[in-house]
Amino acid sequence: MNEIQGEINMQGKHITWHQPKISRQDRNALNGHKSCVLWFTGLSASGKSTLSIEVERLLFQRGIRTYTLDGDNVRHGLNSNLGFSPEDRTENIRRIGEVSKLFVDAGVFVLTAFISPYQADRQMVRELFAEGDFIEIYVKCSIEECEIRDPKGLYSKARKGELKEFTGISAPYEAPEHSELVIETDKLSIEQSVQKVIQFLEARSYITKMVDVT
Ligand code: ADX
Repeated sequence: MNEIQGEINMQGKHITWHQPKISRQDRNALNGHKSCVLWFTGLSASGKSTLSIEVERLLFQRGIRTYTLDGDNVRHGLNSNLGFSPEDRTENIRRIGEVSKLFVDAGVFVLTAFISPYQADRQMVRELFAEGDFIEIYVKCSIEECEIRDPKGLYSKARKGELKEFTGISAPYEAPEHSELVIETDKLSIEQSVQKVIQFLEARSYITKMVDVT
């Protein structure tokens, strides 16, 4: 679809795709690095935000242009009209998928931190991207540990029935079966978890391996 220039009749709307003169490859070349999306998925309090913020910091230090899209933050603005019904979560993920795609096209290394509990929604986003541009990272943490952490007190509210449709308690989380990477945050430290992501990116040549000169 991206490559096609011309009029596309979508649901009766006559809209035209304009082909820009600057391509993603041009932007990647200017930046001196690749662009892709690191899609962190997992239960609330599994460590998605912590991990994405720390990985972003290290990438930024290496001169990589990055941007993090975080569930709680995006729900303050772009997706403030969405709740937590299955339909709203699907729309949340669809929009973030499309926004991520724009960022990747802009040459940016995108990190996303959304529960994204439904396998079909994650697959829908994966299909927006070319092979290799979408890296799913399953932030795996037992529900027991997430409940102990409970940094926002939401598990406690959900247990008392004050919060409906809460993931892991009264709404499902469909764990990924074929994610590119699994990070077990109830077994690894934050530092170890972050390093696992960085090493994956180096091993697959998404980023250049740092040379230790000491
Ligand atoms: S998603 O399911 O649509 O991917 P998203 O990641 O955007 O969810 O938002 C999850 C965050 O919203 C949680 O970290 C939590 O702070 C808050 N939240 C509020 N209500 C719920 C709920 N019912 N289920 C899950 N998270 C909720």
